[in-house]
Amino acid sequence: MTTGLELKSLITADGILRLSLEPSELPDPAADEVIVRIEAAPLNPTDHYQMTGPADLSTLRQDGNSDSPVLLATVPQAAMPFVARRVGQPRPIGTEGAGTVVAAGREADHLMGQRVALRPGGMFAQYRLAKAADCVPLPEGASSADGAAIFVNPLTVLGFVETMKTEGHTGLVHAAAASNLGQMLLKVCLADNIPLVNIVRKPSQVELLRGLGATHVVNSADPDFEADLVRAIAETGATMGFDPTGGGRLAGQMLAAMEAALTPPDAEHMVYGTDVPKRVYIYGGLEGGPTVLDRRFGFAWDIGGWLLFNFMKRTDAATRASLQQRVLDELTTTFASSYTRVVSLRQVLDPDIFRAFQARATGEKFLVDPTLD
Ligand SMILES: NC(=O)c1ccc[n+]([C@@H]2O[C@H](COP(=O)([O-])OP(=O)(O)OC[C@H]3O[C@@H](n4cnc5c(N)ncnc54)[C@H](OP(=O)(O)O)[C@@H]3O)[C@@H](O)[C@H]2O)c1
Repeated sequence: MTTGLELKSLITADGILRLSLEPSELPDPAADEVIVRIEAAPLNPTDHYQMTGPADLSTLRQDGNSDSPVLLATVPQAAMPFVARRVGQPRPIGTEGAGTVVAAGREADHLMGQRVALRPGGMFAQYRLAKAADCVPLPEGASSADGAAIFVNPLTVLGFVETMKTEGHTGLVHAAAASNLGQMLLKVCLADNIPLVNIVRKPSQVELLRGLGATHVVNSADPDFEADLVRAIAETGATMGFDPTGGGRLAGQMLAAMEAALTPPDAEHMVYGTDVPKRVYIYGGLEGGPTVLDRRFGFAWDIGGWLLFNFMKRTDAATRASLQQRVLDELTTTFASSYTRVVSLRQVLDPDIFRAFQARATGEKFLVDPTLD
């Protein structure tokens, strides 16, 4: 039996979010299982959402003590029906991570002492039990921090490119493009000669992406944003967009700019717009509120949701393996994640640190190292 601590998120029936460190007891691994000592797990936006749910974070308050810290926040009554199925159930948090195999079942002996990446969930923990088949050995010399984020953002980026090809498009528009994921997408598009229009919202982000080699970067805060977007899309021929903001007008602005770029300046009035298929996938919820469509883009358009796990399910095993291999081959280049701060499990429950990663700002990525005190 291996014992350790793990971070749990609980929503109570009276509308309180409770984040705490709880003891966990892991049985000895079965023949095809291993126990991994977790040494690095990134704090992705999805982990933040799973941790907090719809809690009102302006009500965040500390409870417990320094040995056993607890964070509390209030969940608005109106949001309780949306979380009814998780009420009263402490949930483990942490999508992906990496560490060292410290115990192995009979058939998994070869992994003993290996540094591996894994994503069984619940990675904000000192130890995790996992199937050996779900562990990806890291290349020689790669640290756990190097391998902690080999699944979510890298595979999403490669999934975007696969989706673009499968659906017959030849260029991409990407919003919130200075994100960790956006920088990876830029590197992949540069390497694979895929035309890419990057949408950001600050001049510093324009500079950052240009510094990485981006040709087309438009700033949604500029007064000429819509005209700039049409120009950039016209130069790339992009007809597929990926938008992690979700709320607001951006998805519609992408479609409108694609349609405008496709319409020749001397064309006669087209009542129904062009017949060229245009599609935007919403893949995140960085911006709250409804998605607003100002329909200035004819009738050959689609908006859908895109989720890595759904993409992986409908992708064949050989493609999945080749995408994962590319991530491993380019682990410290294309798919390198940089972290501004490494924190312990206890520090995740420090209100100041919690508020800092809640900001999800460009370049402000946190890594959790459960081996730290
Ligand atoms: N669907 C999927 O399968 C899937 C998979 C992986 C990731 N994702 C999503 O991908 C997104 C990026 O993830 P990441 O790990 O790369 O994040 P990250 O590195 O933390 O970056 C977040 C970026 O979003 C920008 N941003 C935040 N709020 C914004 C808003 N309201 N409007 C426009 N930009 C905003 C930030 O810019 P500022 O500095 O200007 O705030 C920052 O550049 C997240 O939404 C995540 O949930 C989805």
